[in-house]
Order: sequence, then structure tokens, then C-alpha cells
Amino acid sequence: MDQVIIKAAEIVRQAGKLMDSSDYEIEQKGNMSNYVTDADKAVEAFLTERLTGLIKGSEILGEENHHRIHTVSDVWVVDPIDGTSNFIRGIGFSGISVGLVRDGEPYAGIIFNPYRDEMFVSEMGQGAWLNGKHITVSDRDFSHSHLCSAMCLYDKRYAAPCFRIIEEIYMQSDDLRRMGTASLELALVAAGRAELYFEMRLFPWDAAAGFALIREAGGIAECLHCEGFPLDRPFPVIAANNRESFEKLKEIVCRHVPKVPYDERIG
Ligand code: IPD
Ligand code: CA
Ligand code: CA
Repeated sequence: MDQVIIKAAEIVRQAGKLMDSSDYEIEQKGNMSNYVTDADKAVEAFLTERLTGLIKGSEILGEENHHRIHTVSDVWVVDPIDGTSNFIRGIGFSGISVGLVRDGEPYAGIIFNPYRDEMFVSEMGQGAWLNGKHITVSDRDFSHSHLCSAMCLYDKRYAAPCFRIIEEIYMQSDDLRRMGTASLELALVAAGRAELYFEMRLFPWDAAAGFALIREAGGIAECLHCEGFPLDRPFPVIAANNRESFEKLKEIVCRHVPKVPYDERIG
């Protein structure tokens, strides 16, 4: 694995210490259920300063500070705390997600869960790893799958089709998880702990690292109804451990969501 990715993972591990604090201010963003804390801002500032130093000319697209369009080939796509709501409530299932998008494609993924000291790392062509051990997706079929999903928390206008999709999949599979941290749930698919993933509206910082990880672990992760991996908008996401389950999941989701029901731009 490239030294740059190894160093980036070390930086992410250090940033995890900034998630330790119990003394932080909470602010509400945009709508009722969307929060940001001092810890989110501190982690993002820490990562912004250090990650750009690893690759000359690279830039940061961070959840808490994303005011520019990125045209360079290397973009670090950062969710400083994914699962902020879990973080505030002390649930112990939140993480730091850092994807390196190179020439428009998720190239490397780093996802760290400091509560379990679990560091997921992948690099294109080099495989996917959890705490230094190689990981692969599971070989369970659709009917024995666990689905990780959510009900479009930050725009509940789209909750109804999410519920219909989740119900349809639930009736044909093993079980459902709504865990509150998209990146760690994508990492569960990569590590063979879950098999299916659907979310109606994820931002690049929720998904970049998870896509890189799942693809290197042998699974499939895609933005629905869009080209490549957009850095300028949210998009629906589907992922699965194998092609057959992915196609089945896609058929169900596309029937309920024939096109992206929103048209938003970041910035
Ligand atoms: C959210 C979490 C949540 C997912 C939302 C995300 P945040 O990120 O990952 O699980 O359902 O779509 O926006 O706001 O905690 O960084
Ligand atoms: Ca997030
Ligand atoms: Ca976040």
C-alpha cells in the first residue's frame, strides 16, 4: 500500500483523539435533526491541515467547509464525524471517514471507528483491510442478507419511498439495520458483516471512503442514476456483496425511485 495512504490513516487515527471530548458545543444545521459540534469542526480542521500536505496540489472537500468546486485530480473527501447524532447521544457508533477521490473515482478509503479501535483502509488495486487484516465481502445470498439503510433523515419528504423499499427488501432478506453512521455501515458491507446498503440521499463525504472500501473488498457500490462519483451533489446509493444481489437491490430501488427526486448542488 502507498505510503501516502498509510500516513493518511495515521493522521485519521490521531484525529480520533479529538472525538474523545465530552465538553463540546452543539449547533443545529439547516433542519431539525441535523447537528454539528465543536468536535466535528476540530476534526475537520485537523485533517484539512495535515492531509493536503501528503499530496502536492490536493484539496479537501469537507462536510463542514465545502465552499468550492474541485477541479484538481486528488481530492480528500472528509466527513469529520459521521454519525454526529450517535456521537452526541453517546451511542458509540460514529467514525471519521476520509476518501481520496482521484480523477473522479474513489481511489482510497479510510474509515475509523475510535470506539472499537477499528481502522478500515483500502487502496485501488491493493485490497481492503481492517486493522491490518485483509477483508472481503460475505458470500451470503440475498435471502440471507442484512440490509443497512435509512429513511432520508435530513429530508423527510423522501421517507415514504424509503420505507417501501426497506419493507420490500426486509420481507425477502434476513434482517435490517438502521445504525446512524453511513460510512461505518458501508464498511460493514466491505467486512462481510452486512450484505446490502441503500440510502436515498448521501453526500460525497458520507460515501467516498465506503465506495473505495467495498469495491476493493469485492463488492459493488454505485451512485444511482448518475455518472461516476459526483463531488458537487448528493445522490442515492446502493451497494451489495455480489452482482446478483446488487441487480436485485437495484431493480427494487429503481422501481420505487425511477429518477433522483431532488436536484441539489453543494456549496
Ligand atoms: C449522516 C449519517 C446517517 C445517514 C445520513 C448522514 P452525519 O451523517 O451517516 O447515518 O443516514 O444520511 O448524513 O450528519 O452524522 O455526518
Ligand atoms: Ca455523514
Ligand atoms: Ca458529519
